[in-house]
Amino acid sequence: MQMNSRLIVALDFPSQTAALSAARQLNPALCRVKVGKELFTRCGPAIIDALHKLGFEVFLDLKFHDIPETVKKACRAAADLGVWMINVHALGGLRMMVAAKEGVDAVARPPILLAVTILTSMGEADLAEVGLPVPPLDMVLRLANLAKSAGLGGVVCSGQEASMVRDRVGADFLRVTPGIRPASASVDDQIRVMTPSQALAAGANYLVVGRPISHALDPAIALAAIVAEM
Ligand code: C5P
Repeated sequence: MQMNSRLIVALDFPSQTAALSAARQLNPALCRVKVGKELFTRCGPAIIDALHKLGFEVFLDLKFHDIPETVKKACRAAADLGVWMINVHALGGLRMMVAAKEGVDAVARPPILLAVTILTSMGEADLAEVGLPVPPLDMVLRLANLAKSAGLGGVVCSGQEASMVRDRVGADFLRVTPGIRPASASVDDQIRVMTPSQALAAGANYLVVGRPISHALDPAIALAAIVAEM
C-alpha cells in the first residue's frame, strides 16, 4: 500500500454491498476511504473490517460531540477498530477534545484525530441563530487553535479555509478538505468547490472526494484521473 496517498474517497452508500462493490473498483495504493454516519449506522464495525481486508486505511467520520467522558470512550472504541483517522466536533470544547485525545492515545497505534470546526453548511446567519454572531472564518480559526492546544492532529476544513489554517495555526497541523470537484465534474449539492490541484495549492494535505469517484461510471478511471491531477 502507498501510505502517502493524499486522496480519501468518501464511501457514502446505504449498504455494505454497495460500499464494498465501489471499494473493490478502487486501488488501496492510490487512496484511502471514508466511512460516514449512514454507512456505519447501517453496517457497524463489520464494514471497517471488510475494508481493512481489502487493504484500505479508513477514516471513520462520525464527528463525535458529547460530554468529555463519553467522547473519550467513543474515541477509544473507534481507535480499537484500527482505523487510520477519526474526528470530533471542536464545539464540544477544549476539555472534550483533550478527553478525545486521551481516548485515542490509549491504543498502541492511535488514529489521527481531527476536529470539525464550523460545518461548511453553516453560514454567518446560521451561526447568529445559535447565538454565535461572529464571522465563520473567525470561528474556524478560533476552534482550530483550540483543537491544536488540545493536541489534535488537524481539522476538516474547506479549501477556502485551508491556507488560513496553515498560515495562522501551523503548517504541521493537518488540513483535510472536502468539496473537491474536478473541473469536468458535477458540483452536486456542494456550494463552494475547488479542483484537486487548487485545493492542494491552497494548503490542503488530504482531499476528500465522494461522488465524482464513488458514483462515476468507472470509479477506477475517475480515481486515476484525480490522482494524476494531484
Ligand atoms: O460527494 P462529495 O464529494 O460531495 O462528498 C464529500 C464528503 O465529504 C461527504 O462524505 C460529506 O459528508 C463530507 N463532508 C463535506 N463537507 C464537510 C464535511 C464533510 O462535504 N464540511
